[in-house]
Amino acid sequence: MTDTESRLHNSNFLRACRREPVDHTPIWIMRQAGRYMKEYRDLREKVSFLEMCKNPELAAEVTLMPIEPIGVDAAILFADILLIVEPTGVGLTFAKGEGPSLSNPVRSGDDVKRLREVEPAESLNYVFEAARLVRQGLPGDIPLIGFCGAPFTVASYMIEGGGSRDYLHTKTLMYRDPGAWHALMELLSRGLVKYLNGQIAAGAQAVQLFDSWVGCLSPDDYREFVLPHSRSVIQGVTPGTPVIHFGTGTATLLEMVCEAGGDVIGLDWRIQLDEGWKRVGYDRGVQGNLEPLVLLAEPDEIRRRAKIVLDRAGGRNGHIFNLGHGIMRQTPVEHARALVDAVHEFSAR
Ligand code: CP3
Repeated sequence: MTDTESRLHNSNFLRACRREPVDHTPIWIMRQAGRYMKEYRDLREKVSFLEMCKNPELAAEVTLMPIEPIGVDAAILFADILLIVEPTGVGLTFAKGEGPSLSNPVRSGDDVKRLREVEPAESLNYVFEAARLVRQGLPGDIPLIGFCGAPFTVASYMIEGGGSRDYLHTKTLMYRDPGAWHALMELLSRGLVKYLNGQIAAGAQAVQLFDSWVGCLSPDDYREFVLPHSRSVIQGVTPGTPVIHFGTGTATLLEMVCEAGGDVIGLDWRIQLDEGWKRVGYDRGVQGNLEPLVLLAEPDEIRRRAKIVLDRAGGRNGHIFNLGHGIMRQTPVEHARALVDAVHEFSAR
């Protein structure tokens, strides 16, 4: 290992991924590069979100934006879980002030057959280029986290055409045409493995799988329709690279989420961290799990709540501090900084 590699390898974040002792509990914040930062909003006045993602220089700049001001222990690549849908032939736009919108959604077996295989080396090379630039620009002890959406969450957007409350079309396809469902999940899984490994080759030291909406499923449906596919993505990741497996609303699915895999399991705020870790098992790390809206409270309250999460982790090796889901755009930047400082201070060994 070169000196540079060894500094990264021994960073608190990667040590925590391997459940090794750390100087302090590492923290990063989901959506840490985003609209709660003025510098981000200023850039967005001039450039659309998708243009930002597809311009490696801008994506790298935004990835680095929160590192020093917020003081986090890891960077996450600026991109989106939905970029992978474009190369399948599904159109993607982000309307101003609204969420993503996907054209020609996938609703039938014939729609699934029309999808193209994803070859990220061609169609998503801009993400890999951004990762290379970020790695050059990051301090030597700050790891870069690559990521993708888990097959279920990506599929749900492709089928619904956007965000959803009840996942009507998603579950309709799942129940009416399980063959088409599994074919879609397999196509996505093949593309996602190549996509994650491309990010790793370009400079990411760890990856996170976002299964943000999987909490809408019954345990039986998770086992039949989702678990095998998330597992095949995780098993395909370049050996030696830690995988964080995150979902929300997973309190009833946690054991199966673990079965699908992951070195570190992401917990949302609806479960207590100590209870969650006990169910996950101490042979894996956990990430989480402060309620994101606590960051709208005063710094004293943020510190008090951060301490409760740390107390529940009990100083055990393998805890990565994070919010239970993404940071809200209404969060004052000083509050994000106050959280990071509190976590570092309270957890100093
Ligand atoms: O965490 C980071 O800072 C890295 C970048 C990142 C973004 N999206 C940037 C983004 C990551 C990791 C994501 C993942 C993502 N994207 C998820 C999973 C994470 C989660 O929150 O559950 C999902 C479901 C998406 C799909 C998506 N992209 C939605 C639903 C939206 C709209 C959200 C909103 O608040 O309006 C986006 C847009 C998006 N992705 C923005 C950013 C910074 C906002 C774009 C803008 O208007 O500037």
